[in-house]
Amino acid sequence: MKQAKAQIRADELRRLIEHHNYSYYVLDDPEVPDAEYDRLMRELEGIESEHPELVSPASPTQRVSGTPQEGFETVRHRVPMLSLGNAFSDEEVADFERRIEQGLERQNIIFAAEPKLDGVAISLTYHDGLLTRAATRGDGEQGEDVTSNVRTIRAVPLELRGDDWPSLLEVRGEIYMPRAGFDAFNRKALERDEKPLVNPRNGAAGSLRQLDPQLTAKRPLAFFAYSTATRDGLPDTQFDSLHRLRDWGFPVNPEIRRVEGVSGCLEYHRRISALRPTLGYDIDGVVYKVDRFDQQAILGFISKAPRWALAHKFPAEEEMTRLLDIDIQVGRTGALTPVARLEPVFVGGVTVTNATLHNEDEIRRKDIRVGDWVVVRRAGDVIPEVARVIHQRRETELPEFQMPETCPECGSAVERVEGEAVARCTGALICPAQIKHGIRHFATRKAMDIEGLGDKLVDQLVELGLVNTVADLYRLEHEQLSSMERMGGKSAENLLKALEASKKPGLDRLLYALGIREVGEVTAHSLAAHFKSMQALQEASEETLIEVSDVGPIVASHVAAFFQQEKNLRVIQALSDAGVEWQPLEENVGEQPLAGETWVLTGALSMPRIQAKNLLEALGAKVTGSVSAKTSTLLAGEAAGSKLTKAQKLGVKVISESDFVEYLETQGVEIS
Ligand code: IVH
Repeated sequence: MKQAKAQIRADELRRLIEHHNYSYYVLDDPEVPDAEYDRLMRELEGIESEHPELVSPASPTQRVSGTPQEGFETVRHRVPMLSLGNAFSDEEVADFERRIEQGLERQNIIFAAEPKLDGVAISLTYHDGLLTRAATRGDGEQGEDVTSNVRTIRAVPLELRGDDWPSLLEVRGEIYMPRAGFDAFNRKALERDEKPLVNPRNGAAGSLRQLDPQLTAKRPLAFFAYSTATRDGLPDTQFDSLHRLRDWGFPVNPEIRRVEGVSGCLEYHRRISALRPTLGYDIDGVVYKVDRFDQQAILGFISKAPRWALAHKFPAEEEMTRLLDIDIQVGRTGALTPVARLEPVFVGGVTVTNATLHNEDEIRRKDIRVGDWVVVRRAGDVIPEVARVIHQRRETELPEFQMPETCPECGSAVERVEGEAVARCTGALICPAQIKHGIRHFATRKAMDIEGLGDKLVDQLVELGLVNTVADLYRLEHEQLSSMERMGGKSAENLLKALEASKKPGLDRLLYALGIREVGEVTAHSLAAHFKSMQALQEASEETLIEVSDVGPIVASHVAAFFQQEKNLRVIQALSDAGVEWQPLEENVGEQPLAGETWVLTGALSMPRIQAKNLLEALGAKVTGSVSAKTSTLLAGEAAGSKLTKAQKLGVKVISESDFVEYLETQGVEIS
């Protein structure tokens, strides 16, 4: 290609690539598939290698350049990078607001409220629109020059957009590792027998400290801007300034809002706390900043933190404690789960004394031993887990963990199938732990819904030998029940009534209640809808089972194996003999006003999700899991997240649960 032509095409390609970067990282709305982006990059690389004189440092091909460094240079920040005061309670937020009201002698303060990202603080300096320096926070006065590494992060603009930026601009923000990238990175590391990253924050920090930018370039890092060192060339408020930064090409967190007073702050904290599991990156709280810069200036600073800002933290999700013992729990399917018994520790807002250790391999991989100091993690409603061991604090030799060879509940042999992580008790028929779990599950609300059959009662019934299979429940007599511990005549009567009332389940509920491995309520419903009778399902081969939607080879093999076992068929027969009559699903006859429509459910609904799905399907709609241009309606419950945003972007109709219930009423559909 002639030089003049090459120059024109190279400029065009750079513009296009920067444009796609902006759509992807700032607008979160990619215009072209990754393959097209890669094609443009390759074309530009081709031109630049043919015409090296056309390469400029701001070219998107120059993100990874330079050779490994010996170390990082120390740099002094032009304006110190401050820290934030912390609050953990509503009262502390109220105190913060009171102090501000006094300082400003006014009320109804407006704040910019932002998620507090759990990554690494960074300062980015732009001279005449070009990135010239990236520095870590360090001690706030001096940090390390990590420019070559930061240049590899595509979310960080090398060149600013627009032309109204000041000639010297220092933007501050957080470099973080999105959860998906972290998980993918660790999956690969484990496959290759390499050391996984401890958590996304350490992942981000470690990536920035790589001496070879080639390595940083391989780490999935992202960036959000949250402030500037000086206010030159910016609007008068934090909120508007962040929007200006966005125009100049910086990703800015989409959850930033203007709120009023302490009530606005607390409401924001609650909302973000609910959104937290859906965000895709780690945050450890929210930050409130007095929005107006003139008010910030009046308030000033105390030591190293501004008086006008506050970090309202979430309860810590990780804490340290001592591992006192490892117990083995036997689940419904006989799976043996090692459980950590811990010295009580307050983490994620609750006191934790037990945490899962997953399985034997996990214990070995993390080298967890009784007596160790461990880090316990509890995120949101997730079951607490032992995340890792603080090996430095292990003072003496501790014995390695051994999985027992016999079941601690029934003494049967423990077996671990080749290729499976889980060890199982082989005494399905005699193991009281498995029997108890099976019966508890049978009685749950989404299964047979037997009110009054609590866990303690199930334990007693099994221990007294009154119940060995779920069918035995229907043979219980008033006399037996009323003579049991903590069971009066009235309770016995109520339980018998509840058992009687549960005798006409839908086929789907019964299938779910039987506790077939891998058969949840949705699969049970699909199986019942497809086969229509227990008989047909019992006779189905694995090949026919796979034809059912939601049923893959693993589920099919579990279902087929279940019905091949004589003892299971005997239990089903015994249920029938005891008067349990399962009902085929109602045929979708009559009106199907939603035929041809595709619905998606999201957020927290007050009716069980499966019920909403069944109702929609009965009206003829198809229910799928993700929003696309083909979606007809999104039914959005409380705290709906990314699906709602996507639906709004695509212009998909969104209705609330109360609208949905109202609609059902107009259709004469009864909601039980
Ligand atoms: S503002 C003067 N905003 O929290 C205010 N900081 O202790 C300076 N952080 O290391 C910080 N998200 O990296 C601010 N939206 C946000 C933030 C945020 C995370 C980090 C920051 C700093 C620490 C402050």
